[in-house]
Amino acid sequence: MPPGCCATAAAAIASIAPPRISSNRGGSKRSQCNRGGIARAKFALPALPYESSALEPYMSKKTLEVHWGKHQRGYIENLNRQIANTPFEGYLLEDIVKISYNRGSPQPAFNNAAQAWNHDFFFTSLKPGGGKSPTGEIAELIDKQLGSYDNFVKEFKLAAASQFGAGWAWLALKEAKLVVEKTPNAINPLIWDHIPLLVLDVWEHAYYLDFQNNRPDYVSTFLEHLVNWDIVNARLDRAKAFMNWGEPDWDLFDKDADILTYEEAGIDVVEDSS
Ligand SMILES: [Fe+2]
Repeated sequence: MPPGCCATAAAAIASIAPPRISSNRGGSKRSQCNRGGIARAKFALPALPYESSALEPYMSKKTLEVHWGKHQRGYIENLNRQIANTPFEGYLLEDIVKISYNRGSPQPAFNNAAQAWNHDFFFTSLKPGGGKSPTGEIAELIDKQLGSYDNFVKEFKLAAASQFGAGWAWLALKEAKLVVEKTPNAINPLIWDHIPLLVLDVWEHAYYLDFQNNRPDYVSTFLEHLVNWDIVNARLDRAKAFMNWGEPDWDLFDKDADILTYEEAGIDVVEDSS
């Protein structure tokens, strides 16, 4: 296999990768090739799940081309260079984020790993025709735990507007409770073991071409026209499958069901002759 095969394969995979149904935990995709019999993996730029012009007029094609095609690509390429020939080469992106954060003393790979993860999560948090009030279970949970959708909007706008400088605004789960959070620079809620459900990039590169320095208008546009509540519901479903969501609903269990014997269940029982 020729030198540079990973980069070639990465580009090929990025160009043909189908839109994701969900990429809430995996982050950027890997391509693989084999050098000298040792499997190496590099992260590839994930394809956008929509055309670059599909979010207009709320997010311009130019913004997406620069944000995804240059900034996100840069984080991934820098990360690949940083982790080459280190133990991180074999890790999932989410694990690199958590481990390289190093309990608050970040290792060199942290910023690019976290930015690669955050941006993949951000681009999949958007959809054409999105925004407005949520539907499904997340709508019920917002009403129940945050008071109302209007209250969520107020909290989210405050978090996004008050994040000084570059950063992110999140809706996440903290021990099965919805929380609105903000994080600076590349930090994300994974480092606290929270489970992100939705994110807005409030780095200036995310909105300057469309809104100049008017961050509040950008945040309102995101909430009213771009949020992909379908994927938020999918992420919520996935989170519930992996966390203790409280006491089981015993009504779901048939308490009167007969308990089968081994014989009735067709299980051969070997007598212990010792
Ligand atoms: Fe960004």
